[in-house]
Amino acid sequence: MRSKISGKAIIATSGGVDSTVAAVLAHRAIGDRLHCVYIDTGYMRKGEGEGIREMLGKIGIAVDVVDAREKFYSALRGIASPEEKRKAIGELFIRSFEEEARKSGAEFLVQGTIAPDWIESGDGIRDNIKSHHNVGGLPKEYRLKIVEPLRDLYKDEVRAVGKALGIGEKAYSRQPFPGPGLAIRIIGEATPEKAAVLQQATSIVEEEIESSASKGECKLPWQYFAVLLPTRTVGVLGDKRAYGYTIGVRAVESIDGMTASYSELPHSLLARISNRITRELKDNVNRVVYDITSKPPATIEWE
Ligand code: XMP
Repeated sequence: MRSKISGKAIIATSGGVDSTVAAVLAHRAIGDRLHCVYIDTGYMRKGEGEGIREMLGKIGIAVDVVDAREKFYSALRGIASPEEKRKAIGELFIRSFEEEARKSGAEFLVQGTIAPDWIESGDGIRDNIKSHHNVGGLPKEYRLKIVEPLRDLYKDEVRAVGKALGIGEKAYSRQPFPGPGLAIRIIGEATPEKAAVLQQATSIVEEEIESSASKGECKLPWQYFAVLLPTRTVGVLGDKRAYGYTIGVRAVESIDGMTASYSELPHSLLARISNRITRELKDNVNRVVYDITSKPPATIEWE
């Protein structure tokens, strides 16, 4: 006999494949008892909120956009260490979920945690490589009961689940995007000004790589993005000295994110990315570098 299950749940989607698949699964299971939110932390990609609303709207899931930008900016003020940033973000996420859950009367929190998240966050046996925002970043006490339907799956398996659920190729084949977002791609303190620069650089990298792949000039990498480095270097702008930041471009091939090799992108594509970034962000960026390290020894994200 099936037991009667009741209660409401909340899920926060980040636009990445894990939280999207978890949201769809949870919605299939409990329908309108699921409250789906998108927390705009100020460290998300440009236009992400509308994109998620549209994507999930097509499958009949309504998404509430929560503007938490100022809260995240002030929580991260003055924090430069990657682990401290991750923990501050994890804590603020859970507080934001609790606040939203109170409004809708939810007692469960559904999360898109997958196997590499908890493996890399350390489980007492393994070393803590980095605290994934939905694992090691959580504060000790939280009131919501956590449900993680994808906990034992790897990324390729999550995509297969998405495909089986019929969520559309665009949604299930989308590149991964980490919950802490651009905050862990701004090396050092993640100020709102730097977030704005990185949002712009990220969309240039995505546009150029996706356009090249659609023309058959290269294969679409498993993951591709920009990082903003904190040191400034000397350049020339017109006939004047410039002193700007460096953008790192990262593109990798992987199956499950546990290991990765850098993508051999065509030089013509790298040149287009570099030209656009230094032209469109000329007041802030005067140097672009391409990351040619594999995982290990590097990780995919820089923090
Ligand atoms: P790393 O940098 O550990 O990344 O090689 C492996 C994959 O995990 C993603 N990543 C995260 N995803 N929360 C997430 O949801 C996180 O805190 C987090 N940190 C890294 C990363 O983008 C890559 O796909």
